[in-house]
Amino acid sequence: MKEAGPERLASVLMDKGALASDWLPAYRRAPRHLFVPDVIWPGRAGMNRQDDRVTRDGDPDLWWQAVYTDAPITTQWDDGAYTGPGKGKVPTSSNSMPTMVFSMLDALTVRETDRVLEVGTGTGWNAALLCHRVGPENVVTVEVDEASAKDARDRIRQAGFHPLCVVGDGAQGYADGAPYDRVIATCSVGSVPGAWIEQTRPGGVIVTPWGPEYGGEAVARLVVKGDGTASGNFTGSSAFMRMRQQRRAPKHVREYLGGQPWPADGVKSSTVLSPEAVGDWLPMFAIGLQTLGVFPWAERYEDGTYTLWLRDTDVTSWATVDYEPGRTEYDVYQSGPRELWSEVEAAYWWWDARGCPGFERFGLTVDAENGAHTPWLDSPDQRLPIVG
Ligand SMILES: C[S@@+](CC[C@H](N)C(=O)[O-])C[C@H]1O[C@@H](n2cnc3c(N)ncnc32)[C@H](O)[C@@H]1O
Repeated sequence: MKEAGPERLASVLMDKGALASDWLPAYRRAPRHLFVPDVIWPGRAGMNRQDDRVTRDGDPDLWWQAVYTDAPITTQWDDGAYTGPGKGKVPTSSNSMPTMVFSMLDALTVRETDRVLEVGTGTGWNAALLCHRVGPENVVTVEVDEASAKDARDRIRQAGFHPLCVVGDGAQGYADGAPYDRVIATCSVGSVPGAWIEQTRPGGVIVTPWGPEYGGEAVARLVVKGDGTASGNFTGSSAFMRMRQQRRAPKHVREYLGGQPWPADGVKSSTVLSPEAVGDWLPMFAIGLQTLGVFPWAERYEDGTYTLWLRDTDVTSWATVDYEPGRTEYDVYQSGPRELWSEVEAAYWWWDARGCPGFERFGLTVDAENGAHTPWLDSPDQRLPIVG
């Protein structure tokens, strides 16, 4: 077997269909090791988990192995506030999983000399790949974190590219560099910023990870029209870090119970739909597309049982469903003007009745002027129902 390195990873990515031949020269000209920092927390493919810290000086072989593995690499915790040798609370910057990097670049369908805006410079790898493809003079990359932005700019320059590196809130786009032919975000959003649509030429493309409040996430490929809207399909599942200004900040369950012990004034019923069925990434996404401001949280107990909590973002309603392995019926409590479990259950059964469509069959239309997001199935005229 070949040693870990750029050529072996290239074969892996090509076998997976992620690295297309038109991106191979950029992959070779901007190798990943030039952009991965000396201090890293290697991740695992498809899992929100990080290994212990690896330093390039301390363990160069492990560092190299991580760089040339198809997995994400965490490079910052807690917006840089955590600097210790362990792990912070939340990973806030990374060098993304190569499969995801090249799948998204493929979805971007760039042509030579396209003007491209990237949101989320991170380590600078994606920006350098774009520089090779469309020319550094056509690339603007925006990073909200000052320290990450500076380090990335230095690395991009050392690799021989000189795009415009901006420190700022990428939700505003970068008007001075507009109009763009392509916009690519490498942090996820729940609301596509209107500025991205306004700063993109009609016919241009926006590729961004998008996730509804309930959970699940997928990459949206939106084509900008001349009427201030952008619309298109999702291309596949993703799990990116949320744009800093759009992070979820859920209130504690205590705030929903009005000072009373659970189940407070909750009305009891039962369900045959297992909480397990509504907890996977795809059904979560399908439920999220049909519900407004509902988010789940599982309170887990040592014996393998758990309580699924549902809360609304307006702090008016809550629901719980108790899960026990082996049961076929589960206790439900609901409180407030919204019956949140009933909403989630209706959304799940709607998705199930259509044969459990995958991410790629869903799409989204966004209106820059009023911020409306309209999800659909198969075509824009088949809008999803909003339950509740
Ligand atoms: C997954 S990393 C980006 C990976 C990067 N494209 C690369 O090639 O290494 C996500 C980045 O988005 C940045 N970010 C979060 N919110 C942002 C915002 N509002 N504007 C610009 N960047 C933002 C984070 O600081 C983080 O560095």
